[in-house]
Amino acid sequence: MADVEALKREAGIEACKFVKDGMKVGLGTGSTVKHTVIELGRRISAEGLNITGVPTSLATEKLAIEVGIPLVELSEIDGLDIVIDGADEYDPEFQLIKGGGAALLREKIVAQESAAMVVVADDRKRVDNLGAFPLPIEVTPFSHEATVRSLCRLLDCRVNIRMAGNGPVITDNGNMIADAHTGPTIDNPIRTEAEILLIAGVVQVGLFNNMCDAVVLAGANGVETFVNPNGRLI
Ligand code: A5P
Repeated sequence: MADVEALKREAGIEACKFVKDGMKVGLGTGSTVKHTVIELGRRISAEGLNITGVPTSLATEKLAIEVGIPLVELSEIDGLDIVIDGADEYDPEFQLIKGGGAALLREKIVAQESAAMVVVADDRKRVDNLGAFPLPIEVTPFSHEATVRSLCRLLDCRVNIRMAGNGPVITDNGNMIADAHTGPTIDNPIRTEAEILLIAGVVQVGLFNNMCDAVVLAGANGVETFVNPNGRLI
């Protein structure tokens, strides 16, 4: 466990090389990117790095304030230079599953507003086919049982509302998370994303297609950066 934590820290810190003075930076959510947020805070106080951040969750907002990153609302600015965020899985085409931390809606809004997206991960996240990690889908509380049934029919798999103790997990947006246990069968994530979004009770799905420009990956051989040949950092 200590090793995984060390890998996350290495990847999180290394990704800061993409952040330059004057940038507007999307701050992702999760146990890997938290190291990026802490390192950016350190660079602000140690090196006078001048950046503004937009957090993707209330948890990241709290951490960013604690480490001294100046924050703005996404609505106050015209886009971001970069977002750095974690992922639950990524495939050889740099398509992602995200939402293990229930922050997928804000993460996707911030990613769509960013000129580039860098993912920080340890090498357990690299897969050939997406879906071993249950696919997180944010759904409205209204008639969520019906939405879950529609998702089961569409995906032909078990779908559970994510629980925390006795009650459902409630997202920062007041919604619920349905986790779809597809298994590693999502071989056309673009089609799967489009089909899921047709269900009315679905707010957003944790498939992030054609968004990721680079993955900073920590593994047994150290930290490596893989740049998407079809991405925006080429
Ligand atoms: C948050 O909702 C997620 O998208 C996270 O970014 C993702 O689950 C990766 O988190 P870890 O870095 O904690 O594995």
